Amino acid sequence: MPGKVILGAQWGDEGKGKFIDIFAAKADLVVRSQGGNNAGHTVVVNGETYKLQLIPSGILYPDCVNVIGPGVVVDPRNVLREIDGLAEKGVSCDKLYIDARCHCILPWHLELDALSEKARGGDDIGTTKKGIGPTYMDKAERIGVRMHDFVGERFEEALREACERKNKVITGVYGGEPIDIEAVLAEYKDYAGRLRPHVRDTSVLTYAAVKAGQDVLFEGAQGTLLDLDMGTYPYVTSSHPVAGGCCIGSGVGPTAIGSVMGICKSYTTRVGKGPFPTELFDETGDYIRKAGGEFGTVTGRPRRTGWFDAVIARYAVRVNGLTELVINKIDPLRGLDKLKVCVAYRYKGETITEFPANFADLAHCEPVYEEFEGFTEDITGCRSWDDLPSAVQSYIKELERIIDCPITMLGVGPARDQVMTLK
Ligand code: IMP
Repeated sequence: MPGKVILGAQWGDEGKGKFIDIFAAKADLVVRSQGGNNAGHTVVVNGETYKLQLIPSGILYPDCVNVIGPGVVVDPRNVLREIDGLAEKGVSCDKLYIDARCHCILPWHLELDALSEKARGGDDIGTTKKGIGPTYMDKAERIGVRMHDFVGERFEEALREACERKNKVITGVYGGEPIDIEAVLAEYKDYAGRLRPHVRDTSVLTYAAVKAGQDVLFEGAQGTLLDLDMGTYPYVTSSHPVAGGCCIGSGVGPTAIGSVMGICKSYTTRVGKGPFPTELFDETGDYIRKAGGEFGTVTGRPRRTGWFDAVIARYAVRVNGLTELVINKIDPLRGLDKLKVCVAYRYKGETITEFPANFADLAHCEPVYEEFEGFTEDITGCRSWDDLPSAVQSYIKELERIIDCPITMLGVGPARDQVMTLK
């Protein structure tokens, strides 16, 4: 049975964690393919809260194999902190495997992330400052430190070489303080020793699981519009959160994927900078932000909030080859008189229905809305289609028509069981 991809169909923070967790609970292998600890989600299992950043969600299920694929960037200090935090709660990471090809996020990457953001002045990307961009830059420049070097015999040589090179940039370009390599070596040697047993060629594991017909879940991070190529460049992350990224980032081919589930919220949010056509600057935006608890898991920043954008949803269907869509967090819309859905943009006097390839144009796109009736009922206890108020049913039916992709699940509250399966 080919694997299932679950990914974000908007700008990240769609509440993927809950759906990933539902499918992880029955998966044999869960693999992360891109990004790093810039992602973050909270999972509540048996009353216990777990905050995961890099480690796949399958870790909460003892029989599941968890893979950090070759396309992921790994901060050794951070992943060990996560492993220790899980151990304190009695969760074992014995079945956690990190690909030997993963690039390491090292102290100079964190420093360079902060320095380059500062140097951009008011034009910063609004990164999570986890060193993601600088690590992928080194990978593309072919000077990065890969996991096999980090846990292997080249540990000291690789780190010294990288640090020396990066200190020239830190001091010469940004006027920053050089990183003390001796301190880094002393601290990170221990991390290398602890990570060593987890490191291997994970492509072999993932391929074997797919070949054996096991249940394989490709766990997405960030979202479609944060993709380096297909997202709202330059306000994007440095990896590939689109479905195609799962293949490159896990080291298996496209035939390993059987279905692609995109997660949307019933409204739109984004963190960081960049154009956002349906953004709300009024009390409706504040209302949705508050009702939806839209504050960053990793950074705590309030998220920018706006109406559902179906132009984006259709774009996500196209660039990911979505086979199904989930509409999550419908409950925060309760109490609003009208529900608006952006179905097209007005751009230079014309109506356009496709998301622009030049994202600078997006700043000049005015949303064209269709309006639907709001609802006042508490829907958090609804578990089937028939339980839902008619206004919610018609909102979902209209979304399905406008987006032209089957909506298979809905999310009506934060808990794992506050979902319903429609098809
Ligand atoms: P970076 O990934 O830290 O380089 O940040 C680049 C952009 O992606 C910034 O706008 C971040 O706020 C955004 N970003 C990165 N990770 C996430 C995520 O998991 N959810 C939402 N936004 C994210």
